[in-house]
Amino acid sequence: MTDMSENIAELKTELTSIVEAANDLSSLEQAKITALGKKGKITGLMKTLGSMSAEERKMTGQALNELKNEIGALIGKQESALKRQVMDEKLATETIDVTLSTRPERQGHIHPISQTLEELITIFADMGFSVAEGSDIEDDWHNFTALNFPPGHPAREMQDTFFLPEDPDEKDEYAKKLLRTHTSSVQIRHMKENKPPIRMICFGRTYRSDYDMTHTPMFHQLEGLVIDEKTHMGHLKGCLRDFCEAYFEIDNLPMQFRPSFFPFVEPGAEVDIGCSREGGGLKIGAAKENGKSDWLEILGCGMVHPNVLKSCGIDPDVYQGFAFGMGVERIAMLKYGIPDLRTFFDSDTRWLDHYGFDPLGRPNRAFGG
Ligand code: DAH
Repeated sequence: MTDMSENIAELKTELTSIVEAANDLSSLEQAKITALGKKGKITGLMKTLGSMSAEERKMTGQALNELKNEIGALIGKQESALKRQVMDEKLATETIDVTLSTRPERQGHIHPISQTLEELITIFADMGFSVAEGSDIEDDWHNFTALNFPPGHPAREMQDTFFLPEDPDEKDEYAKKLLRTHTSSVQIRHMKENKPPIRMICFGRTYRSDYDMTHTPMFHQLEGLVIDEKTHMGHLKGCLRDFCEAYFEIDNLPMQFRPSFFPFVEPGAEVDIGCSREGGGLKIGAAKENGKSDWLEILGCGMVHPNVLKSCGIDPDVYQGFAFGMGVERIAMLKYGIPDLRTFFDSDTRWLDHYGFDPLGRPNRAFGG
């Protein structure tokens, strides 16, 4: 054996024992620097290659490379063993006591709007409605014109509707952008994109310039639309009766359909539910002592106007159907006894603690609200 190969063999023994002796990750890192670092032992020997004969350089170079690979592999092995050891120690010592009771932290609550929407979706999904979506920013055509609002209708006025700043290049007045004043615009979008039969609900934020105990500039609506060849007013009444009884959880709820006008339906109606205001409070579904009911308006509805169908490319001689729309806050206030609409959006956590719902008790299709 030449001196050099003896040196390499000794170095291998030395480095192997240094690496094997490393009993934690930081001493292993140190061993790595000693063996393979820029100023390390193997690198040191590599530097002597330049002064060797060609023959010797070839042999020594090869042997040093092998040594480098072997020590590198040994370090890798040692590293995984040490990491495993660290993990095993952690697993043995850092156990989590799952029986520990929760800290007395504030518990969050589901906002009554989310809860009510969840209940509405559950009920209508059970009746076979699917959910459609629209956007908060609409244009005049979808929000008014296609819904048969005549020019000059008061709802189009600035004092009700939030218009977006006008685009000076936009010449088409029906393209004027606004914040939707109702979810009825989604009827139009849905009918343009889908062929009958249609059975959809949509819901979301709507905007009107209004502020008092029963109005806020932003509020929520839920809208429904059914279109096919045979749907008639009887279906509308049956559907809304089933809905009201399910939502208010009252069988044989007194209801009346009162004729009313909305440009996009003909005939149009408002639905009232029976209640008693006797004794100051409000009892939904209850009759007064004389056996009669007081009435409370809860939603608008009607048979879709032929002009609306035409705007969406649907032949009114073949298809017909009904639509309805309701204020989500309003029916939440009635069901849960919340007196002032403005408080919904005050972001007061004490209000939410009082009127909010347990996050784990939300209804779903199997366990409806
Ligand atoms: N869009 C109406 C409103 O905001 C509510 C409404 C009434 C919707 C009658 C309808 C309907 O779909 O048929 O006051």
